[in-house]
Amino acid sequence: EWSFALDALQAERDQAITIDTTRIWFRTGGRRYAIIDAPGHRQFISNMMSGASEADAAILMLDVSQGVSEQTRRHAYLLKLLGIEQLVVAVNKMDAVDFDKERFATLAREIEHDLLTVGLRPMAVVPVSARHGDNLVHASARLPWYTGPTLVELLERFDPAAQPEAEALRMRVQDVYRNGTERIAVGRIEAGMLQVGDEIVISPDSSTARVTTIARWPSLGEPIARKGESVGITVDRPIFIDRGDVISHVDDVPDRSRAFSATLFWMAERGPELEATYRIQFGPTEARVSIDAIERIVDTERLEPLAQAALPQHALYDLSLRSRALLPLDERDRHSSQARCVLLRGRDVVACGFISRVQHSTSKATNLTPHEHLVRPSERHERNGHPGAVIWLTGLSGSGKSTIAMAVERRLFARGKCAYVLDGDNVRCGLNRDLGFSPVDRTENIRRVAHVAALFADAGAIVITAFISPSSEDRATARAATPEHFYEVYLSADLATCELRDPHGLYARARAGEIAEFTGISAPYDAPLHADLVIDTATDLDECVEGLVEFIERECALPVAAAR
Ligand code: ADX
Repeated sequence: EWSFALDALQAERDQAITIDTTRIWFRTGGRRYAIIDAPGHRQFISNMMSGASEADAAILMLDVSQGVSEQTRRHAYLLKLLGIEQLVVAVNKMDAVDFDKERFATLAREIEHDLLTVGLRPMAVVPVSARHGDNLVHASARLPWYTGPTLVELLERFDPAAQPEAEALRMRVQDVYRNGTERIAVGRIEAGMLQVGDEIVISPDSSTARVTTIARWPSLGEPIARKGESVGITVDRPIFIDRGDVISHVDDVPDRSRAFSATLFWMAERGPELEATYRIQFGPTEARVSIDAIERIVDTERLEPLAQAALPQHALYDLSLRSRALLPLDERDRHSSQARCVLLRGRDVVACGFISRVQHSTSKATNLTPHEHLVRPSERHERNGHPGAVIWLTGLSGSGKSTIAMAVERRLFARGKCAYVLDGDNVRCGLNRDLGFSPVDRTENIRRVAHVAALFADAGAIVITAFISPSSEDRATARAATPEHFYEVYLSADLATCELRDPHGLYARARAGEIAEFTGISAPYDAPLHADLVIDTATDLDECVEGLVEFIERECALPVAAAR
């Protein structure tokens, strides 16, 4: 009966294994559940991935008589990869070992250790016997030594999935129907919700329009559509919408790019080939892509990086991909459900995974002619009463950059100066939200900020930048962007002091291994050797602020004539 319920394909019952994913819906404790039974066998790992990729939480099933296998470790790794952190381990078939406490305890220790090595912490490990129902719903008298919650009680402790109200809208267009002169874009709301009257953006085109009607079958007459619903919409402008386009709200639009990185579980026998053409699919969006580079290969059994010489099947690949067409893309970190993709060669699925990073266009523009401003810098200087300048603060996280920068901005403003802070955390939420903390990304972070700061200074402002900017080379590049009125200010505070302050608990997390490449802990910081000003931030905050304000006023007190 059990296998009829879960293993719907005859082939599965014949071989007593699960091939396809099956869903079972039920309700308990006031909550609705869908159990996605995902197969464990190596050949069907892609099915496991597609099942698991839709899950909010996981129950990892172990057979007590078989123990922890490489396959179990691989599943743990894939769960981590898919971002499923809510996890319960059920040790099944306890009846086959006479409900032996020791067998269970040994296995529980082993699996907890293995999960921890991939960064997963199960909420509980529960001994069960599915055949007889022990510890599934009710505590079993045959497992008196286990006093924890039953499997169903554990399910009730999982955090529920995000509510559509809290998510950014993503609707993928499946098709566009014509009805007389009307054009109806149909598709599924993959995330968030959509309402009549909403201003929407169609990506990758970036055209905007307002929703005039939402139609669905059966007609509910509701002007709102939520995640999971398939609807047709009409808009107030005659814009071009195509299959594969993504509809979002104006405030959270997918990235648009031709180049991106993807983390993929490789299923085909033949490994990835740089010369080949592949097709990538995410929902109804489809594009031809080629592989620019193989960035990394990880063995999913031993969970360690592999040399690039061999290109094995069933390994995890970080690939740099390029498409000819501009694509609407979401990164996994921000829109995990939207970043899932499959890679095909001809008609065969060769890999599946997710978009890990969108790369922004790197092709260089040519035929450019810079234009002269008709307002001279000295005129801006005269009106503002000071020249534009860049005050470049550098120092470890927790050295006081942001605090001091904001206080200095406030004081300069009060004294009639035109001052503005560019802060690392702030800029990384917008302009630089595509960047992480690898050395390459930090260099790009500083390069962009250096140019933005130079533009602000050119516009006449005193810009105070608050970036760790750990590389002295990058800081030299920043200086080169504003050759005049650039001042490097080193906020000197040793690591121990910064770590003690730890205003956002990041050092503690970096020490615990939860944050990689953390400056001072696992990434370098080149202290400036020739800073224009050094401020020891171990002293009184007010003194530091006043010291910097005085420095700026002194350096920027040039008469206008001198700046001409
Ligand atoms: S920089 O190195 O590229 O100049 P930036 O100043 O923009 O860094 O950003 C640093 C801020 O990002 C820190 O204040 C901290 O809040 C946060 N952060 C998150 N992860 C890291 C990390 N691995 N290393 C340093 N800072 C991090």
